[in-house]
Amino acid sequence: MTNKPIDLRSDTVTQPTLAMRNAMMEAPLGDDVWGDDPTVNALQERCAALFGKKDACFVPSGTMANQLAIRSQTQPGDEIIIHGESHIVRYEAGGAAALSGCSFAIVEGARGFFTPDDVKELFRPDDFHFGRSSLVSLENTHNRGGGSIWPIQQLRDVCEVSHSLGLHTHLDGARIWHAIIESELDAATWGAPFDTISACFSKGLGCPAGSIVVGNKETIHAVRRFRKMFGGTMRQSGILAGAANFALDNHLERLKTDHIHAKTLARGLHAIDGVACDAETTDTNLVFFDIDKMLGDGASFCRKLWENGVLAEALDSQRIRFVTHLDVTEPEIERAIQITADICKHVSK
Ligand SMILES: Cc1ncc(COP(=O)(O)O)c(C=O)c1O
Repeated sequence: MTNKPIDLRSDTVTQPTLAMRNAMMEAPLGDDVWGDDPTVNALQERCAALFGKKDACFVPSGTMANQLAIRSQTQPGDEIIIHGESHIVRYEAGGAAALSGCSFAIVEGARGFFTPDDVKELFRPDDFHFGRSSLVSLENTHNRGGGSIWPIQQLRDVCEVSHSLGLHTHLDGARIWHAIIESELDAATWGAPFDTISACFSKGLGCPAGSIVVGNKETIHAVRRFRKMFGGTMRQSGILAGAANFALDNHLERLKTDHIHAKTLARGLHAIDGVACDAETTDTNLVFFDIDKMLGDGASFCRKLWENGVLAEALDSQRIRFVTHLDVTEPEIERAIQITADICKHVSK
């Protein structure tokens, strides 16, 4: 193989650009455990202002950001109302149970969305037999929902009903940046209905690590305490916050390009016999497609893709995900479509 592999496994595979590395090198540093890293402080203030909240806390990962938001807004024995396909439910190693003692009240719904009625139905009245409903968690964009962007009014309605029932609301906004750019609604608009929001710098924004949790002073005070308890405090973390500040300045607007690439991919995949892919519901940079059983299962199909220079992951038996990002070019997108089409033709012969 002469070409470098086209890595569509995730937007987390991006390498920091030279300009980002320079920004990291130049970032003034302190010791964030003492609260005097100026770059971390600047990033936290910037993110709190962006999302229209009072405070923010910089943490190593999206998983930790979500788990801290949960720990800070629940007590052991509580229930979290959440979509069953959410990252928090599926991919955080049972953290909500292990770290916060919470169980899930699972909602279902197409594309990762649900309704105010779903919340009302799962809400537990005050009765000592029941776990206490305390938190509703949404994900936007929704990863397994296909990078889907919540309809803003539906999201507001869900949060309004949740608050009226006395529940806290959390947004797993690992990829909220994509929703902001695609919808042209700003961070404060998406953030307004929530008590806490987590957002990642290490996905579409191209940083090596780092996430933020935003919320009110009291909650973020608790987040800082639990960050220490969970082992997530860092020292000269301005080196990472420097990357995040650079990304907010330079990598936000360009997400539009990733979305255009994703649409191109989805349309190209849709045109292949044996592949089902809906360009209409490909809202952002995650492209999900289903392969016909005659093409084998997702895992064996991915092995063929890998052998032919396209790296991707099967998420279910017939379902595969391609992710566009900073390090994939338009010609590579075209080549990925061609390679997928060639494999399908070859296998179905
Ligand atoms: C929706 C969502 N939330 C949270 C995370 C966790 O982020 P991290 O890998 O930084 O822990 C991910 C990671 O892919 C994600 O897709």
